[in-house]
Amino acid sequence: MSEPTPTGGAPRGDERTLVIIPTYDERENLPLIVGRVRAAVPDAHVLVADDNSPDGTGELADRLAAEDDHVHVLHRAGKEGLGAAYLAGFAWGLEAGYDVLVEMDADGSHQPEQLPRLLTALSGADLVLGSRWVAGGTVVNWPLSRKVLSRGGNLWTRLVLGIPLKDATGGYRAFRAATLRGLQLDGVVSAGYCFQVDLAWRALKAGFRVVEVPITFIEREHGVSKMSQRIVVEALLLTTLWGIRHRGQQLRSLARRAPAVSR
Ligand code: GDD
Ligand code: MN
Repeated sequence: MSEPTPTGGAPRGDERTLVIIPTYDERENLPLIVGRVRAAVPDAHVLVADDNSPDGTGELADRLAAEDDHVHVLHRAGKEGLGAAYLAGFAWGLEAGYDVLVEMDADGSHQPEQLPRLLTALSGADLVLGSRWVAGGTVVNWPLSRKVLSRGGNLWTRLVLGIPLKDATGGYRAFRAATLRGLQLDGVVSAGYCFQVDLAWRALKAGFRVVEVPITFIEREHGVSKMSQRIVVEALLLTTLWGIRHRGQQLRSLARRAPAVSR
Protein backbone atom coordinates (compact mmCIF):
# COMPACT_ATOMS: atom_id res chain seq x y z
CA MET A 1 0.00 0.00 0.00
CA SER A 2 1.28 3.44 -0.80
CA GLU A 3 1.91 6.01 1.93
CA PRO A 4 -0.70 8.75 2.19
CA THR A 5 0.49 11.99 0.63
CA PRO A 6 1.57 14.33 3.41
CA THR A 7 -0.44 17.52 3.53
CA GLY A 8 1.31 20.81 4.18
CA GLY A 9 -0.21 21.09 7.62
CA ALA A 10 0.62 17.65 9.04
CA PRO A 11 2.55 17.82 12.32
CA ARG A 12 6.07 16.56 11.84
CA GLY A 13 8.63 15.95 14.54
CA ASP A 14 11.53 16.92 12.33
CA GLU A 15 10.48 20.51 11.69
CA ARG A 16 13.13 23.12 12.36
CA THR A 17 11.82 26.12 14.24
CA LEU A 18 13.41 29.57 14.48
CA VAL A 19 12.21 32.06 17.08
CA ILE A 20 13.04 35.59 15.89
CA ILE A 21 13.38 38.17 18.67
CA PRO A 22 13.78 41.80 17.55
CA THR A 23 15.62 43.95 20.07
CA TYR A 24 16.20 47.61 20.70
CA ASP A 25 17.58 48.36 24.16
CA GLU A 26 16.54 45.11 25.79
CA ARG A 27 19.70 44.37 27.79
CA GLU A 28 17.89 43.34 30.96
CA ASN A 29 15.31 41.26 29.13
CA LEU A 30 17.43 39.40 26.59
CA PRO A 31 19.08 36.76 28.82
CA LEU A 32 15.74 36.05 30.50
CA ILE A 33 13.79 35.58 27.28
CA VAL A 34 16.48 33.52 25.56
CA GLY A 35 16.74 31.25 28.62
CA ARG A 36 12.97 30.80 28.73
CA VAL A 37 12.72 29.97 25.01
CA ARG A 38 15.54 27.46 25.28
CA ALA A 39 13.82 25.78 28.24
CA ALA A 40 10.30 25.81 26.79
CA VAL A 41 11.16 24.59 23.28
CA PRO A 42 14.66 23.06 23.53
CA ASP A 43 14.89 22.06 19.86
CA ALA A 44 14.06 25.52 18.53
CA HIS A 45 16.73 27.98 17.49
CA VAL A 46 16.72 31.67 18.41
CA LEU A 47 17.66 34.61 16.19
CA VAL A 48 18.16 37.96 17.91
CA ALA A 49 17.65 40.79 15.39
CA ASP A 50 19.28 43.79 17.02
CA ASP A 51 19.23 47.32 15.59
CA ASN A 52 22.59 48.36 17.06
CA SER A 53 21.04 49.06 20.47
CA PRO A 54 22.86 51.84 22.34
CA ASP A 55 22.60 49.84 25.59
CA GLY A 56 24.78 46.99 24.28
CA THR A 57 22.05 44.39 23.70
CA GLY A 58 23.85 43.34 20.50
CA GLU A 59 27.11 42.49 22.28
CA LEU A 60 25.19 40.65 24.97
CA ALA A 61 23.45 38.64 22.25
CA ASP A 62 26.87 37.75 20.81
CA ARG A 63 27.94 36.41 24.20
CA LEU A 64 24.78 34.29 24.48
CA ALA A 65 25.37 32.96 20.96
CA ALA A 66 28.98 32.06 21.77
CA GLU A 67 27.75 29.88 24.66
CA ASP A 68 24.91 28.15 22.81
CA ASP A 69 24.85 26.84 19.24
CA HIS A 70 21.04 27.25 19.14
CA VAL A 71 21.37 31.05 19.46
CA HIS A 72 22.18 33.35 16.52
CA VAL A 73 22.48 37.10 16.10
CA LEU A 74 21.63 39.40 13.23
CA HIS A 75 23.26 42.80 13.67
CA ARG A 76 21.60 45.65 11.85
CA ALA A 77 23.09 49.09 11.33
CA GLY A 78 20.53 51.19 13.19
CA LYS A 79 16.94 51.53 14.36
CA GLU A 80 14.69 50.97 11.36
CA GLY A 81 11.56 49.67 13.05
CA LEU A 82 10.14 46.33 14.03
CA GLY A 83 8.95 45.50 10.52
CA ALA A 84 12.35 45.95 8.93
CA ALA A 85 14.01 43.87 11.66
CA TYR A 86 11.53 41.02 11.12
CA LEU A 87 11.92 41.12 7.33
CA ALA A 88 15.68 40.76 7.73
CA GLY A 89 15.14 37.95 10.25
CA PHE A 90 12.72 36.11 7.95
CA ALA A 91 15.16 36.36 5.03
CA TRP A 92 17.92 34.94 7.27
CA GLY A 93 15.70 32.09 8.49
CA LEU A 94 14.33 31.15 5.07
CA GLU A 95 17.82 31.13 3.61
CA ALA A 96 18.96 28.85 6.46
CA GLY A 97 16.11 26.43 5.70
CA TYR A 98 13.91 26.66 8.82
CA ASP A 99 10.41 25.22 8.41
CA VAL A 100 8.66 27.36 11.01
CA LEU A 101 9.44 31.01 11.86
CA VAL A 102 8.15 32.57 15.06
CA GLU A 103 7.81 36.24 16.03
CA MET A 104 8.31 37.02 19.72
CA ASP A 105 8.93 40.23 21.68
CA ALA A 106 12.06 40.34 23.83
CA ASP A 107 10.43 41.82 26.92
CA GLY A 108 8.61 38.75 28.25
CA SER A 109 5.17 39.92 27.13
CA HIS A 110 4.98 36.86 24.91
CA GLN A 111 5.49 33.88 27.17
CA PRO A 112 7.76 31.23 25.63
CA GLU A 113 5.89 28.67 27.75
CA GLN A 114 2.85 29.28 25.51
CA LEU A 115 4.78 28.68 22.29
CA PRO A 116 3.96 24.93 22.14
CA ARG A 117 0.31 25.99 21.95
CA LEU A 118 1.02 28.10 18.86
CA LEU A 119 3.13 25.39 17.26
CA THR A 120 0.46 22.74 17.85
CA ALA A 121 -2.14 24.97 16.18
CA LEU A 122 0.20 25.41 13.21
CA SER A 123 -0.33 21.73 12.34
CA GLY A 124 -3.76 22.79 11.02
CA ALA A 125 -2.90 26.27 9.78
CA ASP A 126 -0.50 28.30 7.68
CA LEU A 127 -0.21 31.15 10.16
CA VAL A 128 -1.04 31.15 13.86
CA LEU A 129 -1.65 34.40 15.70
CA GLY A 130 -1.27 34.55 19.45
CA SER A 131 -4.39 36.53 20.33
CA ARG A 132 -5.12 38.70 23.35
CA TRP A 133 -8.67 39.36 22.27
CA VAL A 134 -10.22 35.92 21.70
CA ALA A 135 -11.91 33.95 24.48
CA GLY A 136 -9.23 32.77 26.87
CA GLY A 137 -6.78 35.48 25.81
CA THR A 138 -5.90 38.38 28.07
CA VAL A 139 -3.53 41.23 28.91
CA VAL A 140 -1.92 41.64 32.32
CA ASN A 141 -0.74 45.00 33.67
CA TRP A 142 -1.62 47.24 30.74
CA PRO A 143 -2.91 50.72 31.51
CA LEU A 144 -6.38 51.47 30.18
CA SER A 145 -4.83 53.70 27.48
CA ARG A 146 -2.96 50.74 25.92
CA LYS A 147 -6.01 48.49 26.11
CA VAL A 148 -8.08 51.14 24.35
CA LEU A 149 -5.38 51.60 21.69
CA SER A 150 -5.17 47.88 21.01
CA ARG A 151 -8.92 47.20 21.06
CA GLY A 152 -9.55 50.35 19.00
CA GLY A 153 -6.81 49.51 16.52
CA ASN A 154 -8.20 46.03 16.04
CA LEU A 155 -11.76 47.29 15.69
CA TRP A 156 -10.60 49.80 13.08
CA THR A 157 -8.70 47.09 11.23
CA ARG A 158 -11.74 44.80 11.18
CA LEU A 159 -13.94 47.61 9.87
CA VAL A 160 -11.72 49.05 7.14
CA LEU A 161 -10.24 45.79 5.88
CA GLY A 162 -13.30 43.61 6.53
CA ILE A 163 -11.22 40.84 8.10
CA PRO A 164 -12.46 38.54 10.85
CA LEU A 165 -9.37 38.68 13.08
CA LYS A 166 -9.72 39.74 16.72
CA ASP A 167 -6.02 40.55 17.18
CA ALA A 168 -4.37 41.54 13.92
CA THR A 169 -1.85 43.87 15.59
CA GLY A 170 -0.29 41.37 17.97
CA GLY A 171 3.27 40.27 17.60
CA TYR A 172 3.35 36.67 18.85
CA ARG A 173 3.03 34.49 15.76
CA ALA A 174 4.12 31.30 14.06
CA PHE A 175 4.49 31.15 10.27
CA ARG A 176 5.17 28.17 8.06
CA ALA A 177 8.13 28.95 5.79
CA ALA A 178 5.86 28.34 2.78
CA THR A 179 3.45 30.98 4.07
CA LEU A 180 6.16 33.62 4.30
CA ARG A 181 7.36 32.71 0.81
CA GLY A 182 3.82 33.28 -0.46
CA LEU A 183 3.39 36.77 1.02
CA GLN A 184 5.50 38.78 -1.44
CA LEU A 185 7.53 40.29 1.35
CA ASP A 186 9.50 42.45 -1.11
CA GLY A 187 6.46 44.73 -1.31
CA VAL A 188 6.12 45.32 2.46
CA VAL A 189 6.69 48.97 3.37
CA SER A 190 5.23 49.19 6.88
CA ALA A 191 8.03 49.78 9.34
CA GLY A 192 6.29 50.00 12.72
CA TYR A 193 3.84 47.70 14.47
CA CYS A 194 1.49 48.09 11.51
CA PHE A 195 3.75 45.49 9.94
CA GLN A 196 1.77 42.91 11.90
CA VAL A 197 -1.52 43.95 10.30
CA ASP A 198 0.19 44.05 6.91
CA LEU A 199 1.33 40.42 7.13
CA ALA A 200 -1.95 39.07 8.52
CA TRP A 201 -3.84 40.89 5.77
CA ARG A 202 -1.50 39.57 3.08
CA ALA A 203 -1.90 36.03 4.41
CA LEU A 204 -5.70 36.23 4.34
CA LYS A 205 -5.73 37.71 0.83
CA ALA A 206 -3.41 34.97 -0.39
CA GLY A 207 -5.89 32.37 0.89
CA PHE A 208 -3.76 31.01 3.73
CA ARG A 209 -5.42 29.50 6.78
CA VAL A 210 -4.97 32.01 9.61
CA VAL A 211 -5.87 30.79 13.10
CA GLU A 212 -5.97 32.71 16.40
CA VAL A 213 -5.07 31.00 19.66
CA PRO A 214 -5.47 32.70 23.06
CA ILE A 215 -2.39 34.04 24.83
CA THR A 216 -1.77 35.85 28.08
CA PHE A 217 0.20 39.00 27.25
CA ILE A 218 2.08 40.30 30.29
CA GLU A 219 3.37 43.88 30.20
CA ARG A 220 7.14 44.22 30.51
CA GLU A 221 8.87 44.72 33.88
CA HIS A 222 12.20 46.00 32.54
CA GLY A 223 12.96 48.67 29.96
CA VAL A 224 10.45 50.74 28.02
CA SER A 225 7.99 50.21 25.17
CA LYS A 226 9.01 51.55 21.76
CA MET A 227 5.41 52.28 20.84
CA SER A 228 5.18 55.89 19.64
CA GLN A 229 2.78 58.36 18.12
CA ARG A 230 4.55 57.91 14.81
CA ILE A 231 3.85 54.16 14.89
CA VAL A 232 0.16 54.80 15.56
CA VAL A 233 -0.09 57.37 12.76
CA GLU A 234 1.62 55.04 10.29
CA ALA A 235 -0.80 52.27 11.21
CA LEU A 236 -3.83 54.50 10.86
CA LEU A 237 -2.74 55.88 7.48
CA LEU A 238 -1.68 52.55 5.97
CA THR A 239 -4.73 50.55 7.10
CA THR A 240 -7.00 53.30 5.76
CA LEU A 241 -5.16 53.27 2.42
CA TRP A 242 -5.39 49.46 2.18
CA GLY A 243 -9.08 49.61 3.09
CA ILE A 244 -9.85 52.18 0.39
CA ARG A 245 -7.95 50.16 -2.20
CA HIS A 246 -9.68 46.96 -1.13
CA ARG A 247 -13.16 48.51 -1.30
CA GLY A 248 -12.29 49.93 -4.73
CA GLN A 249 -11.35 46.48 -5.94
CA GLN A 250 -14.56 45.00 -4.49
CA LEU A 251 -16.64 47.66 -6.27
CA ARG A 252 -14.85 47.09 -9.57
CA SER A 253 -15.39 43.34 -9.43
CA LEU A 254 -19.05 43.88 -8.50
CA ALA A 255 -19.43 46.21 -11.49
CA ARG A 256 -17.91 43.59 -13.75
CA ARG A 257 -20.31 40.95 -12.47
CA ALA A 258 -23.40 43.17 -12.59
CA PRO A 259 -24.30 42.79 -16.31
CA ALA A 260 -24.23 39.00 -16.04
CA VAL A 261 -26.62 39.11 -13.09
CA SER A 262 -29.15 41.33 -14.88
CA ARG A 263 -29.30 39.04 -17.87
N1 GDD B 1 15.28 45.51 16.09
C1 GDD B 1 14.27 46.30 16.49
N2 GDD B 1 14.11 47.54 15.88
N3 GDD B 1 13.44 45.89 17.47
C2 GDD B 1 12.43 46.72 17.85
C3 GDD B 1 12.21 47.97 17.27
C4 GDD B 1 13.11 48.40 16.23
O1 GDD B 1 13.01 49.48 15.67
N4 GDD B 1 11.11 48.53 17.84
C5 GDD B 1 10.68 47.64 18.78
N5 GDD B 1 11.48 46.54 18.78
C6 GDD B 1 11.37 45.34 19.60
C7 GDD B 1 11.45 45.58 21.09
O2 GDD B 1 12.78 45.63 21.55
C8 GDD B 1 10.66 44.39 21.62
O3 GDD B 1 11.44 43.23 21.69
C9 GDD B 1 9.59 44.19 20.55
O4 GDD B 1 10.09 44.81 19.38
C10 GDD B 1 8.23 44.83 20.93
O5 GDD B 1 8.43 46.18 21.25
P1 GDD B 1 7.69 46.90 22.49
O6 GDD B 1 8.10 48.29 22.47
O7 GDD B 1 7.86 46.10 23.74
O8 GDD B 1 6.17 46.77 22.00
P2 GDD B 1 4.86 46.95 22.85
O9 GDD B 1 4.86 46.05 24.02
O10 GDD B 1 4.64 48.40 23.09
O11 GDD B 1 3.81 46.48 21.75
C11 GDD B 1 3.25 45.19 21.67
O12 GDD B 1 2.01 45.39 21.14
C12 GDD B 1 2.00 45.84 19.79
C13 GDD B 1 0.63 46.23 19.39
O13 GDD B 1 -0.28 45.25 19.69
C14 GDD B 1 4.00 44.23 20.84
O14 GDD B 1 3.51 42.91 21.05
C15 GDD B 1 3.96 44.53 19.34
O15 GDD B 1 4.48 43.43 18.62
C16 GDD B 1 2.55 44.74 18.93
O16 GDD B 1 2.47 45.11 17.55
MN1 MN C 1 6.45 45.20 24.99
